[in-house]
Amino acid sequence: MGVLLEFQNVSVSYLQRGFFSKKNFFGIRNVSFHLEEKETLAILGESGSGKSTIGKVILRLIFPTEGRALLKGKDIFKYRRDYTKKVSAIFQDPAASLNPRYTVWKAVEEPLLVHGYSKQKRKELVEKALLWAKVEKHLWDKKTSLLSGGQKQRVAIARATVLNPLLIVADEPTAALDLSIQYEILKLFKELKKNTSMVFITHDIRIAVHISDRILLLLGGRIMEISPTREFAKKPLHPYGDYLLKSIPVNSPYKRTLLDDIGEFKTLRDEGCPFRLACPHYEKKCEKYPPKVEINGRVVYCWLYV
Ligand SMILES: Nc1ncnc2c1ncn2[C@@H]1O[C@H](COP(=O)(O)OP(=O)(O)O)[C@@H](O)[C@H]1O
Ligand SMILES: [Mg+2]
Repeated sequence: MGVLLEFQNVSVSYLQRGFFSKKNFFGIRNVSFHLEEKETLAILGESGSGKSTIGKVILRLIFPTEGRALLKGKDIFKYRRDYTKKVSAIFQDPAASLNPRYTVWKAVEEPLLVHGYSKQKRKELVEKALLWAKVEKHLWDKKTSLLSGGQKQRVAIARATVLNPLLIVADEPTAALDLSIQYEILKLFKELKKNTSMVFITHDIRIAVHISDRILLLLGGRIMEISPTREFAKKPLHPYGDYLLKSIPVNSPYKRTLLDDIGEFKTLRDEGCPFRLACPHYEKKCEKYPPKVEINGRVVYCWLYV
């Protein structure tokens, strides 16, 4: 198995316009990681931490301000249109990614049309994808706008997998669905991850632990930690990871530590560690973002380990 995707010091800065000023704002800063073939990496972080920015770079929807991203060792922007055959996306809101006037069949067939597949091949592959995603047959000739949220997401998943891509970027694909349906769709992702490489973006630590092989923990546009999921779930290296694990509701209300007990905190986005205002290990040196430390195949950015 080799490295499929690699980010080398990728930063994305957005120009934010205020009433009186324009300033550069880092969506993500100095983000480096890799994805192995057939691996599922969860990108875990609160809203605004930069998760979708990473996803958009992988999908070539935005260009890094600094650094580069490689697929199989080659700069992603050096690929031609065949890139969309290799890398596909599933988003939070399936309604936004499906044309409401298309039938279910057409929605899944379109990527094959774009890439010039024969009629015979299209029929075969669309059928296979729809059956695999468990889209009921009686829906295949219905307009996608008539479907429920869960059914739409199944169609979006069939569409994203019909070209048999090397890599799938799923950006909070269950966040808009009812809990019972979330569970059904997650089961589908569990199947999907057996045959493909995936970057799975979520703000929910339970989903990240459930679905991934490794977790990349993000805060304020910076990487906090990258660890195998099992090890992370047992004991995160970064204090922010501890904070998140403590915030998971447990079955017994007596065992529960509510986020309120720990206290809300303000994420900083400057030269220092984004977590330092809430960190029990705060020291003066945390005013500067720490260098990368590698420990037994895990990566952490925290002065505790420097
Ligand atoms: N087009 C944009 N222009 C300005 N700021 C942006 C833009 N897109 C995202 N941002 C900002 O960058 C940060 C990271 O955004 P995003 O990657 O969407 O985070 P997440 O997906 O984790 O919620 C946020 O603070 C967001 O407000
Ligand atoms: Mg997002």
